[in-house]
Amino acid sequence: MSRGGFPDRAAANMSDLEVTVMKDQKTGPGPVVEVDPSALAVMPTRRSFLKFGASGIAASALSGLLPDSALAAVQQAAPVVDSSAPGVGEQRIRLTVNGQVHTLNVPANAILLDVLRDRLQLTGTKKGCDYGQCGACTLLVNDVAINSCLSLAVQHDGDSITTIEGLAQGGTLHPVQEAFWEHDAYQCGYCTSGQIMSAVAILKDPNIPSDDASVREAMSGNICRCGAYKNILSAVQSARSKMGGTV
Ligand code: FES
Ligand code: FES
Repeated sequence: MSRGGFPDRAAANMSDLEVTVMKDQKTGPGPVVEVDPSALAVMPTRRSFLKFGASGIAASALSGLLPDSALAAVQQAAPVVDSSAPGVGEQRIRLTVNGQVHTLNVPANAILLDVLRDRLQLTGTKKGCDYGQCGACTLLVNDVAINSCLSLAVQHDGDSITTIEGLAQGGTLHPVQEAFWEHDAYQCGYCTSGQIMSAVAILKDPNIPSDDASVREAMSGNICRCGAYKNILSAVQSARSKMGGTV
């Protein structure tokens, strides 16, 4: 990871499109140019960005092209089923990810984050530090938030996993996603999917008090290099009140 800047490409495992978007955001808007309105149809919207996470921009770009029904099909790609027997050093596992059951042969040392991103193409969950220190890889396992970069996939045989791609339902953003959008709770967006997944878990946890200090403490494992903490806190508290105190 580069020091004091965006994660380098290798660490972030970003696509060409993601790299282009990140560079654009880093270098600023540049000179004013005439824009063909038809070109805007293929740009990812801020709302679709929150459906898939920063790394899901390739998929979210489709939101300008596809109706919601087709977009839902993109979100709900076919289950992955490895038909062959596990190879040497592999184990067969069943993961229910965003409601869909996948049967996979994975190396015993495969990391959950890598299996989701590389085998299932669910790239909304981000790899930041890869050492359990930034929270970018946060997702829910059986409704509990974990750092997926620290977890072996084989430990989750039979588990139910929710990623950022699984929060929106029927084209409608989850209240926490909606609140992040309304409160401008991100800048580059790299940390955003992890922040949202942590917020969902925190708002479900009756043991975490609802005051600002407690929310800050509970979310302290999610680092935002852009310093969007004030708006993130506003978004979490707004989601809480929208959901009548619980999510
Ligand atoms: S990638 Fe930083 S905590 Fe997992
Ligand atoms: S790291 Fe950029 S929005 Fe959090």
